Amino acid sequence: MENKHFLLIALPAQGHINPMFQLGKCLIHAGAGRVTFATTAHGLTQVKAFPSPENLHYASFSDGFDDGIKPTNDTHRIMAELERVGSQTLTELLLSLSKEGNPVSYLIYTLLLPWAADVARYMSIPSAFLCIQSTTAFALCYCFFEEDDGVDESDDKRPPGSIEMHGLPLFTSRDIPSFLLPDDPHASTLIPVFQQHIQALKKDSNPCVLLNTSDSLEEEAIRVIRSLNPIPIGPLVSYAFLDENNSTDSTCGIDLFEKSAEYTQWLDSKPKGSVVYVSFGSLAVLQTNQMEKILLGLIGTSRPFLWVIRPSGSDSREFEEKIKDKVNEGVGLIVPWCSQMEVLTHESIGCFMMHCGWNSTVESLATGVPVVGFPQFSDQTTNAKMVEEVWRTGARARVNEDGTLEAEEIERCLEMVMGQRGEEMRRNAKKWKALTLEAVMEGGSSHNNLKAFLERIE
Ligand code: UDX
Repeated sequence: MENKHFLLIALPAQGHINPMFQLGKCLIHAGAGRVTFATTAHGLTQVKAFPSPENLHYASFSDGFDDGIKPTNDTHRIMAELERVGSQTLTELLLSLSKEGNPVSYLIYTLLLPWAADVARYMSIPSAFLCIQSTTAFALCYCFFEEDDGVDESDDKRPPGSIEMHGLPLFTSRDIPSFLLPDDPHASTLIPVFQQHIQALKKDSNPCVLLNTSDSLEEEAIRVIRSLNPIPIGPLVSYAFLDENNSTDSTCGIDLFEKSAEYTQWLDSKPKGSVVYVSFGSLAVLQTNQMEKILLGLIGTSRPFLWVIRPSGSDSREFEEKIKDKVNEGVGLIVPWCSQMEVLTHESIGCFMMHCGWNSTVESLATGVPVVGFPQFSDQTTNAKMVEEVWRTGARARVNEDGTLEAEEIERCLEMVMGQRGEEMRRNAKKWKALTLEAVMEGGSSHNNLKAFLERIE
């Protein structure tokens, strides 16, 4: 492994970067000679601090918008430029690394970069796709395109648009990844990209999909995509806070947002299991009206809350201004960004109210924190279904027909999860924490799978 150089590429979105960076740390720990982590040129300028474990290097490729300014509504053009300029500059990066004496032996790419597989093939470099969303969501896409593998076609009583996978509850239009729905605004951009991902893997005589999950978490979905050679090696979350003595994972991740420093002391002052941690990831932007309802719901439960509100524009600033009094009364604390794993492992946290982005979902499982899910888009609806009906570690909040979540429903869900009735969910959360940690520790299934993958490369 000392002679192996891995190039890992990801788009500059926190949900893409985090698992890829964690994989980089695992590869270095497993003895890789060199790992280069690359994102777009503009993305690299957004990184707040670069952790520098030995043998880790940084690089960039271009998405065609190095100044960061993209045409706001033209996602087709953005994706076309990403592929055109990305393919060209990724090839240049591979050539320059080779010229400087560090030829790349293996390329790993994430979501929305399917053309990277073609670049790798052209350069005669083996490659793997790291699926950073849930395997269940990816398997649903696979079924959607294939309409066979794992789908029970005999059941014609299924509601239109629903997909069935053996061993799992029925996924209706409310649960499948939102971009597969005909009226979704992102469908025409994302469906072709997911198709391209699956086609790229099928074109490969020896395809490889690394999954950010474990055998026990998503066994059924992993089975559905078995023809793509799936290798579950996750959950890829930063374990530094879960096990302070873990010398193999002492560095955290790469943040694209400036962290607040004030929350630890505040959390320290709260009783065990009392705080609601609220965060909707790095992309979703909630309307002020929705934020007000969430605030009302949180206040209604009389529980302290720590809420991440990214400074995404005048709306969020106006809202913060409006609720300053509440915050000053000590009821809650609003921060622009935090170290989520540090927060989730703090003993004061009793519930995670979130969007069910895949990283936040696996982080809740790895830390044993029960969940109230308010999914927004993409795979989040699927993940919320899994939380509520498969792992049973939380509740999915019910929304109005127009998608609004009312304060009363928030109160109901928080009481259900944190009150007496939530005992079973809390027990399940502890159970999944143990199973998750077991998978990634020495001798666990994900740990062994990663080892076998590396042996195969050797
Ligand atoms: C996106 C999509 O929204 C999601 O559906 C998909 O599954 C992954 O890509 P994002 O919205 O950012 O992700 O959510 P999520 O996947 O949960 O990732 C957010 C990451 O940011 C997590 O690893 C979380 O720990 C981190 N985070 C979030 C922080 O470190 N600090 C914060 O304050 C908030």
